[in-house]
Amino acid sequence: MDKFVVRGGARLAGEVAVSGSKNASLPMYAAAILATEGALTLRNLPRLVDVFTMLELLAHLGVEVSWPDDHAATMNAAGSIKDTAPYEIVRKMRASVNVLGPLLARLGRARVSLPGGCAIGTRPVDLHLKGLEALGAEVSVEHGYIVAEAKQLIGARMNLRGPNGPSRGATANVLMAAVLAKGTTVIEGAALEPETVDLCNLLNAMGARIEGGGTSTLTIEGVASLHGVDYSVMSDSIEAGTLMVAAGITHSRFTLTNCPLGMMKPIVAKLDEAGVYCTDKGDGRVLVDGTGGLYPVELTTAPWPGYPTDMQAQMMAMSTLAPGISVFTETIYPDRFMHVPELVRLGATIHRTGNSAVVHGMSQLSGAHVMATDLRASAALVLAGLAAADETHVHRVYHLDRGYEGLE
Ligand code: EPZ
Repeated sequence: MDKFVVRGGARLAGEVAVSGSKNASLPMYAAAILATEGALTLRNLPRLVDVFTMLELLAHLGVEVSWPDDHAATMNAAGSIKDTAPYEIVRKMRASVNVLGPLLARLGRARVSLPGGCAIGTRPVDLHLKGLEALGAEVSVEHGYIVAEAKQLIGARMNLRGPNGPSRGATANVLMAAVLAKGTTVIEGAALEPETVDLCNLLNAMGARIEGGGTSTLTIEGVASLHGVDYSVMSDSIEAGTLMVAAGITHSRFTLTNCPLGMMKPIVAKLDEAGVYCTDKGDGRVLVDGTGGLYPVELTTAPWPGYPTDMQAQMMAMSTLAPGISVFTETIYPDRFMHVPELVRLGATIHRTGNSAVVHGMSQLSGAHVMATDLRASAALVLAGLAAADETHVHRVYHLDRGYEGLE
């Protein structure tokens, strides 16, 4: 499927279930490599291209992968495991670099292709390597591959905070190495996101000893080995947030189920400012009401508990229809504005200044051909198409399949 044709103006109604979290689950597949006895089964998984890519990588490494049902995966890594994650797979999705820490911890060596950049900016891994070196690994980059070796990882104190704040990927990678290191590891400047907390919970269920999940300091007591477990992944707060924006942009009211409302505070607070109201109906059910008027917002993305960068493009799409001036400032990926020229093609008035974009809200967007460039920009263009008059053709919509299960 290469494009969506979106006819604007429809009201949305009814009920939709939120899928399992892509970003919580991606490092969890890598954690399967750490289990030397018993299989790891993950449930509430989204059926996404990125998930299939990760499972393809695990299978390549020697992990036995099966699907007990459409939204669960069982991974048995008790057999022999290869030490190399090849370019052909890693280039498809940068999160595959998450196998580096587990391979190093399990085998004492790992060769993982350097992940490429992507449309939202260069995606460095220097903090990943800094953390593994702190645990005593010899790390080098040879012919586009990260090569890491350590007879025995030794617990250490380190600070993984980068220039743009904590790193979710580096925290996950180093955490999954430290769980099998000798002694105590303290990671300061750790990521605080709910998805990182979910990973800590999974690893502890597998026999790890991690304290401080959800704070900026993780303390890990190394253990000899980890075992499999049956674990249900948290729901996807970014998919839920995207659907909540859909309510606002189409002036609709509907219900989300399996919604992680308690892990969405910064998203829900900003939607409330913008005129989209969420009511917790209990048991994962949330009534979303976007039938009132929309209001302009000032939004600066920041590491958790700040407003997540993954919800910037979607909120901008809605703000194009909010009377007044909205300002978006991007501090995590300063170039994450590929959706701006495409929204302008739909008639929006947006001006870029440095790592900010100023939106002049208006009454109506008009359909056009637009091009998706990255996952969340694609979602923003589909959302804008829902509100634009006539037809919007969203090209290169395959980006969506990486992060949304059946958005249509
Ligand atoms: C995760 O990517 C998410 N992906 C991204 O979601 C999300 O945008 C990002 O976190 C920021 O919240 C997954 O969880 C699979 P980081 P990650 O390491 O881990 C800099 C989506 O749309 N940095 O937390 O790669 C980096 O450049 C995707 O679902 C370094 O400088 O992000 C960025 O500015 C897109 N050195 C900041 O830290 C490093 O070694 C945060 O990056 C690593 C990162």
